[in-house]
Amino acid sequence: MKIQESTLTSAASQDLEQRLAELRHAVDEALRAYTATAPGCPQRLADAISYSVLAPGKRMRPLLALLACEAVGGEWRSALPVACAVELVHVYSLIHDDLPAMDNDELRRGQPTCHRKFDEATAILAGDSLQMMAIEVICRDMPEELVGPCCKTLSVAAGRCWLVGGQADDLAAEGRFPDSPPPRTVEFLKDIHRRKTGALIEASLRLGGLAGGASADHLGILGAFGQHIGLAFQIVDDCLDVESTPEQLGKNTRKDVEHGKLTYPGLLGLKESRQMADALVRDAIESLAVFKDRGRPLQALAQFVVERRK
Ligand code: IPE
Ligand code: IPE
Ligand code: MG
Ligand code: MG
Ligand code: MG
Repeated sequence: MKIQESTLTSAASQDLEQRLAELRHAVDEALRAYTATAPGCPQRLADAISYSVLAPGKRMRPLLALLACEAVGGEWRSALPVACAVELVHVYSLIHDDLPAMDNDELRRGQPTCHRKFDEATAILAGDSLQMMAIEVICRDMPEELVGPCCKTLSVAAGRCWLVGGQADDLAAEGRFPDSPPPRTVEFLKDIHRRKTGALIEASLRLGGLAGGASADHLGILGAFGQHIGLAFQIVDDCLDVESTPEQLGKNTRKDVEHGKLTYPGLLGLKESRQMADALVRDAIESLAVFKDRGRPLQALAQFVVERRK
């Protein structure tokens, strides 16, 4: 993950790169352990789960959780279970997002999508499994007093009013359900993006904060930061669908126009969309001043959201 030097001095950005690589490695190892074959899990299902989870994702949500934990004075290792839980939910959402009935995609993280590599039913079941695995990981590996708050934060964010609701309206906005066509307005689009993508990113930060023993005030600051960068993240995802290539992104491009999706560049053009994402990230970065130096890595990760090329 390349952190641009506009955010930090060259030496600081090299240190941070190395730090993020170490954290990503710890996340990958933990995910490997969590997805190891379990007695009773059919081999094909286990293979589909590890194929999708261990594929080379950016691990942005886990990193946000670990760094949020540190920003409030916690030790990052205590956030590792919630960091993995949020990634498991994210991967489920990608597997289902790619299904023929949804976005019908063939390429994800530089490899065939789960339903292409295995089959549709196995992909659906892998996604189903990952949702429950996330809850299981929290119940098993978080301190008892945090299990309830963490499960609540994650399950609300991933549920019918947020992630799933946003996905439903994303499809409705394609015009699939002509009986109740939604408005093609920026307000509605913003609401879709905040739900389908922003909610899980906000939850990553809150979960990391919970693991680090954050005060209610600090949780609120992390949550607001997550809302800002979460919306920016999906605006940039929409832009990259227009600007980038499958080789660079690891997923097919120019699909949004093909599907008639409601997107920021579609409504506002690329320039204005990127300006909006930049403004959101600028505000988000400023809001972390209260954490002083401990908030710097999170600020750099926020900058990555708009500077990323994949
Ligand atoms: C892709 O998320 C789906 C969106 C919410 C835009 P990422 O861009 O974080 O995908 P990975 O995890 O790196 O593959
Ligand atoms: C996906 O949005 C959001 C979720 C997976 C919840 P997109 O459909 O734009 O994501 P990509 O472009 O397929 O990664
Ligand atoms: Mg989609
Ligand atoms: Mg998609
Ligand atoms: Mg997209």
